[in-house]
Amino acid sequence: MAAETNRPSDKMWGGRFAEATAASVEAFSASIQYDARLYRYDIMGSMAHARMLARQGLITNEERDAILRGLTEIEAEIDRGEFVFKPELEDIHMNIEKALTDRIGAAGAKLHTARSRNDQVNLDFRLYLRDEADALDALLANVQRAFARQARKHLGAVMPGYTHLQRAQPVLLSHHLLAYVEMFQRDRDRLTDCRRRIDIMPLGAAAMAGTGLPIDRHWVAAELKFAAITANSMDTTGDRDFALETLFCLNLIQVHLSRLAEELVLWSTKEFDFARIGDRYCTGSSIMPQKKNPDIPELIRGKTGRVTGALMALLMTVKGLPLTYNRDLQEDKEQVFDALDTVKASLAITAELLDHTEFKTERLRAATGGGFMTATDLADYLVRRNLPFRQAHGVVGRIVALCQDRDCELADLPLAELQQFSALIEADVFDVLTVEGSVDSRLSAGGTSRVRVEETLAGVERFLGIPS
Ligand code: ARG
Repeated sequence: MAAETNRPSDKMWGGRFAEATAASVEAFSASIQYDARLYRYDIMGSMAHARMLARQGLITNEERDAILRGLTEIEAEIDRGEFVFKPELEDIHMNIEKALTDRIGAAGAKLHTARSRNDQVNLDFRLYLRDEADALDALLANVQRAFARQARKHLGAVMPGYTHLQRAQPVLLSHHLLAYVEMFQRDRDRLTDCRRRIDIMPLGAAAMAGTGLPIDRHWVAAELKFAAITANSMDTTGDRDFALETLFCLNLIQVHLSRLAEELVLWSTKEFDFARIGDRYCTGSSIMPQKKNPDIPELIRGKTGRVTGALMALLMTVKGLPLTYNRDLQEDKEQVFDALDTVKASLAITAELLDHTEFKTERLRAATGGGFMTATDLADYLVRRNLPFRQAHGVVGRIVALCQDRDCELADLPLAELQQFSALIEADVFDVLTVEGSVDSRLSAGGTSRVRVEETLAGVERFLGIPS
């Protein structure tokens, strides 16, 4: 057994400890390896806190100025990569506070007045996530713009729309692309809503009960541009809902990206051959010289697993926690950081990938001709001639069966033959049996007709600030 030292603790919280912390405990509990990422926000929060303490007469103006100067210097040192983070100081909060005290002396030791790391870490995390939400919004808008550009470029191109991955009805390629713009718009809206709950100032909850010192939480909130302050000090220090919600937002973004990735993978197979991803965005095989693989969409799809894992992990961490702060909560940051890094990188490369994907409109058109995809149009034609829809469905089903026997398409049948199935069919039936006729008949709001899609695209372009 290793010899235990009996030197007293030199921790910032070590007053009541007779023994120094075990090295294994220091290693096991340190978070500085990853929470150093929060330094800017930790300093920002400490500066606002110091200003408030001076305003309230809890420290002098000279002490405040020394603190502000010290923190400014420390921030610059970290920016330059010169600051030495120490694992024995556990986390970003104590690394900075210790460096401050070493630098400015007694005034540094007053910074933690009326504050606990429990409210401090909550503050840092919220400040950080507020910025990250804005960064995500910008990345999402970029992806939307890439879709809008492709939709504009291919306006009028037709393709098979699918249900159950079976050819269903002819649609415009632009309609398909604009579907993703909607998905990512919901993601943006969801993030905006989540940001409202991030944007609440927790400092002043202290350890969990509030403080007996005369602080001004509203002033700190205004200083840090928060919309409001948290209402219950116990809820505040135990709350990570804002982190969980952010993780959920990230998950739905990544799931949307994954669906797109799946389509790009399918569409670039020989079997579909609907899209060609640029060489710069594909990779080859080390053994099969002919291969060109869609690794980027595959990785985007694959990374969905770890983003989902992050949400599950934090939900489980929070699940059994009694109020208020528990050290378990330190597990929040790595999950959120990893999910954020993953989703941001995926969004950035998706925008590039879309710009470097060529949609093969002739192949899409050819695939739209087959598969009886105007069968619904024929049924609608009969409905317009007053046949109840269920009967029309039956009539068209029988016509499709005949075509299958003959190995021909609906429009290949002579009029006389069609009329044997229903006397309601006349020569104008061929208008609806064509792909273009079918697409342009879908004039319902949100439908795939050229008119509707053009309207939608124009609105999207206006919203995204794309000159059309
Ligand atoms: N590093 C800690 C965390 O991320 C900061 C709060 C620690 N508070 C405490 N009482 N040990 O959660």
